[in-house]
Amino acid sequence: MTASTSDIDKAAGLLRAGRLVAFPTETVYGLGANAEDAAAVGRVYQAKGRPSSHPLIVHLGGAGQLGDWVEDVPETARLLAERFWPGPLTLVLRRARRVPLEATGGLETVAVRVPDHPVALALLSAFGGGVVAPSANRFGSVSPTTAEHVRTELGDAVDFVLDGGPCHVGVESTIVDVTGDEPSVLRPGGVTREDLEAVLQRPLAVPTTSHIRVPGQHPSHYAPRARVVLVEPEKVVTEAELAGEQGHRVGVLLPPAASDGPVNAHAVVEIPGSMAAYARSLYGFLRELDQRGCDLIVASLPPEEGLGLAIANRLRRAAGPRAD
Ligand code: TXA
Ligand code: MG
Repeated sequence: MTASTSDIDKAAGLLRAGRLVAFPTETVYGLGANAEDAAAVGRVYQAKGRPSSHPLIVHLGGAGQLGDWVEDVPETARLLAERFWPGPLTLVLRRARRVPLEATGGLETVAVRVPDHPVALALLSAFGGGVVAPSANRFGSVSPTTAEHVRTELGDAVDFVLDGGPCHVGVESTIVDVTGDEPSVLRPGGVTREDLEAVLQRPLAVPTTSHIRVPGQHPSHYAPRARVVLVEPEKVVTEAELAGEQGHRVGVLLPPAASDGPVNAHAVVEIPGSMAAYARSLYGFLRELDQRGCDLIVASLPPEEGLGLAIANRLRRAAGPRAD
């Protein structure tokens, strides 16, 4: 199901009135508010239960608007924007005055991206301005990849949900800080490191979860209710069966070819062979295992190349120490 033109107009009107609108992007659903309305931005933090020190991403309808939202556009940023926008890449730049500090968690930099989704682009075009949008989930939990996930997660806290069907990429955007001499990847995501390196013609370091570099990157992000345990792919089945014998309701994210027979567990999800398909379904799988009542999820990390890097990052965080 996809939002109609009158849905888009209604959503743009709500944004102008300082209200919250959830909308689809190619990565995950976002919880949107007028970026220049500090009170509306405050409502986003409230609806998510997110600390106000965690900066938000400003979404724009086209790369041509970038100069209106940042102090200056370095050559690296121009190159990356040209190649990857619209798309799952977020650039961190020095903020222009019009960006309220409420949106940046008090930082002098701002994260900006142009999403690649027809409904998001129609909304941004009808609204005209910038829209701050964190993932439309409660703070710390799994990002939503369908409109239904958003409704379940946020309920009445959001004024309107635009439905654009399931998200095509399924993991959040790659965040690259281009304020320094060298670009640095703050979060792996939908644009792969290999693709960035090909454009920048230099190797890029990607942070591990042990380095919390910016507010809003805590280890316990992206966590389902069930505890997540990561083991080697060939140990997934034995680990799951052992935990089952110990009385756990075990959910398994079963790697391709990890078992030649049926697996004895409460719930088993078979991981697709392609990383793109895995990324697209990852959050849906975690939600499904929660819904089926699992208290423990046994999984393994995919090879950390291409989209596998973002998937591994989210799984590590899901398995990381919990804030609560
Ligand atoms: O794919 C995405 O990026 C999705 C869709 C909705 O666009 N949005 C998203 O937003 O993932 P959120 O709020 O869940 O994550 C944004 C992250 C923050 O947690 C923070 O780590 C980083 O972006 N961020 C934002 N502004 C920043 C800044 N000025 N400096 C460094 N990091 C920043
Ligand atoms: Mg998020």
